[in-house]
Amino acid sequence: MRPADNDLLCRVEGDAPMGRIMRQHWLPVCMSEELEADGAPVKSRLVGVDLVAFRDTAGKVGVLDERCPHRGASLAFGRNEDCGLRCLYHGWKFATDGEIVDMASEPADSRMRNLRARAYPAHEAGGFVWAWLGDPEAVRPFETPAWAPTPTTKIAIVKMHAACNWAQVLEGSIDSAHSSSLHSTNMPTAEVEGSTATETAWLRPSNDKAPRLEAEVTDYGFHYAALRRPIRDPETHVYVRSTVFIAPFTVLIPPNDKYNLAQMLVPIDDENCMFYWIAWHPTGGIGQDAWRRFCAAVPGVDLNPDWTKKRNLQNNFLQDRAAMAAGDFTGIEGIPAQDMAMWESMGPIADRSEDHLGSSDVAIIQFRRQMVAAAKAVQKGEPAIGTTSKSRQVDLASFEGVVPKTADWRTFTTRNARQAEPAE
Ligand code: FES
Ligand SMILES: [Fe+2]
Repeated sequence: MRPADNDLLCRVEGDAPMGRIMRQHWLPVCMSEELEADGAPVKSRLVGVDLVAFRDTAGKVGVLDERCPHRGASLAFGRNEDCGLRCLYHGWKFATDGEIVDMASEPADSRMRNLRARAYPAHEAGGFVWAWLGDPEAVRPFETPAWAPTPTTKIAIVKMHAACNWAQVLEGSIDSAHSSSLHSTNMPTAEVEGSTATETAWLRPSNDKAPRLEAEVTDYGFHYAALRRPIRDPETHVYVRSTVFIAPFTVLIPPNDKYNLAQMLVPIDDENCMFYWIAWHPTGGIGQDAWRRFCAAVPGVDLNPDWTKKRNLQNNFLQDRAAMAAGDFTGIEGIPAQDMAMWESMGPIADRSEDHLGSSDVAIIQFRRQMVAAAKAVQKGEPAIGTTSKSRQVDLASFEGVVPKTADWRTFTTRNARQAEPAE
């Protein structure tokens, strides 16, 4: 990939085309659970813009520029009380919509009274607080995310900071081939008889490490399937894992038998992104605490208060060579940390000019091609990718299962098709 195209794909700050695409979508600021009424405000950074989010006394969420419009102190230190966030420095106080409701340091007749803080339209859904960072005159209607088809859907979220560009994290998310190596300890092959795997592991009905990949472009992005030889009935059946890429930053990854899975790879700036891994189920699934324990992503244990990782590139992810010698494939604890070790080791922005892409990289090639084209389209004034899609996110779904070879994986990617999946 040429360096100029790599920049188009990766860079989101300032006026970069990919950032302009991102700002034509609602972006997740933080998880809803992070904001308590009159609780501590939360810092967030999206496409290079520093924000503060807070929930006022009445439960309403506000998303403002982090810098106070008076002289630029951080509102993240502010007092959140009596329906507003008050800057500590001189006591100006802001409502969720940016109105300045108290300007203690100015006389009542001051012209400054017309000033406002920059507030962004905010919305809560699917366990997240979302903000619109684009043109305030062109706010698109909020679309219900794929993992919240009903208000009562059970949602568990892992949140983790990645110290590298969003696109290489997304390329991990759509890379079905890596899991049979990198995550082989956590996602072992199911021995058909007498499995020795632990309860928390995901069993795979295949030991085929070289999947055949097929991709199909759609109006929301693309979807692709990794097709593997199953352990049982390899002559007549195929093991399908299909993945859905909803441009620009959402991926529905194959479910397991207990819950559905999605990831959002949200650009913080050019060299950092926020990784969200969502497990959901109409009624049951997995609880928030159990999900975080399974992912070794427990706040305070595995993660610092700002969602950076305790096991990180600086300490080699505490890789345990003795555990590797004893059979653990990576010596790194937790599926996301194993991914992070790979992603961050590629550098803050991966140099893609010397990659050697093979047949298992079909989805990576599709992603790069589609998103570079999308960046160029926006430069020409065309609509941003994902803004003209007719598909509803809640109708999309990834798929995992062993099916007859005669079946077409493309038909297993809507929720309806999934419900009608062949019994296996
Ligand atoms: S800097 Fe915030 S009130 Fe002065
Ligand atoms: Fe992974």
